[in-house]
Amino acid sequence: MNEDLRRRALDALTRARTRTATLTECVDDRELTAQHSPLMSPLVWDLAHIGNQEEQWLLRTVGGRAALRPEIDSVYDAFEHPRATRPSLPLLAPAEARGYASEVRGRVLDLLERTPLEGGGPLVDSAFAFGMIAQHEQQHDETMLITHQLRDGPAALSAPEPPRAGPDAAELPADVLVPGGPFTMGTSTEPWALDNERPAHRRTVPAFRIDTTPVTCGAYLAFIADGGYRDPRWWAAEGYEQIRRHDIGAPLFWRREGGQWLRRRFGVTEPVPLDEPVLHVSWYEADAYARWAGRRLPTEAEWEKAARHDPGTGRSRRFPWGDADPTPVHANLGQRHLRPAPAGGYREGRSPLGVRQLIGDVWEWTASDFLPYPGFAAFPYREYSEVFFGSAHKVLRGGSFGVDPVACRGTFRNWDLPVRRQIFSGFRTARDADPLEDTV
Ligand SMILES: [Fe+2]
Repeated sequence: MNEDLRRRALDALTRARTRTATLTECVDDRELTAQHSPLMSPLVWDLAHIGNQEEQWLLRTVGGRAALRPEIDSVYDAFEHPRATRPSLPLLAPAEARGYASEVRGRVLDLLERTPLEGGGPLVDSAFAFGMIAQHEQQHDETMLITHQLRDGPAALSAPEPPRAGPDAAELPADVLVPGGPFTMGTSTEPWALDNERPAHRRTVPAFRIDTTPVTCGAYLAFIADGGYRDPRWWAAEGYEQIRRHDIGAPLFWRREGGQWLRRRFGVTEPVPLDEPVLHVSWYEADAYARWAGRRLPTEAEWEKAARHDPGTGRSRRFPWGDADPTPVHANLGQRHLRPAPAGGYREGRSPLGVRQLIGDVWEWTASDFLPYPGFAAFPYREYSEVFFGSAHKVLRGGSFGVDPVACRGTFRNWDLPVRRQIFSGFRTARDADPLEDTV
């Protein structure tokens, strides 16, 4: 078991570093140090921050070593410096940042080999801290992928197209009935689950219907064509105020030209693909679309029940398809493709009730605020989750094409401000079941 976790930690750390290299070696030093959007850090900040967090948690806290470069800790403290101010910090130059991160990594691999993974406390048992740092790097890799999407200029990244949906996609029902009753939400057993996913607890969810696939660009275009952005009936008041103030009338990166909707995606302009899940919408846009469609966003508990609950056994799975880790037939994850796959694909990844693409493709906004589960305990530090709890942030679930499997599972919770749209966010809708429906 421990040797298996040691190997998993090594694989996860190595995979993260390969991806970090892909994202930072495809542009020159000038682009690495530039700020492509005030919403984002310069890529070179992320690079050294990844190394610095790894040094602080693994080499210093787990390994008990002295700081390699104590003078840089403050520069790479995400809480001390908001993203917009990071270009003015005394950042390590690209070559120095790379050298620092790889020096830390070399020492971490030695430490991983020598650290007993049980009986040493919650930080080292099951290689938790190593898994946490691999997730941290992958989360920054997704952040850097967003920076690439925001950057002007020709494409720097490339990837093969995602698989097309199978012939059965056209026959899928629009939505699926999820029966009412209790299910197990969260986890107490997943070794690398973060504090906000814990502990497992029972949650009773009345019967509801949820879309079989995420909402597509084609469906979203009908909302636009129907004047959805100009009708305050569909919008939360703050959301309507925000789209008026910023003159928003379509998802981010879309524009209308010559009677056609186009979008810019990683440096390429292309027609909006009608069958692909809509991407780069805020929570307000998702919420307004759902109301226009006579539906609503699913709550976080509904989303997790649809993704994990197996009505046959009554237990919650790790993933919609079962307990096995994701492979390329299950879900569009890990930046293997630079876009969501068409709606209705990934048949092998469907839930027991037939819901598709819950994992991968697009982060899905839920109706819920980011709140602690009953019995929550901050670990290993309050700034991971606890300081974000409250009504300011909405929960997103399921991961996107830009999330690595190490940072994606049925219990994984992401959160962001309801105005955010540069993230890889989409959604699906739900509604209460009719009273007579819940008889299965
Ligand atoms: Fe970070």
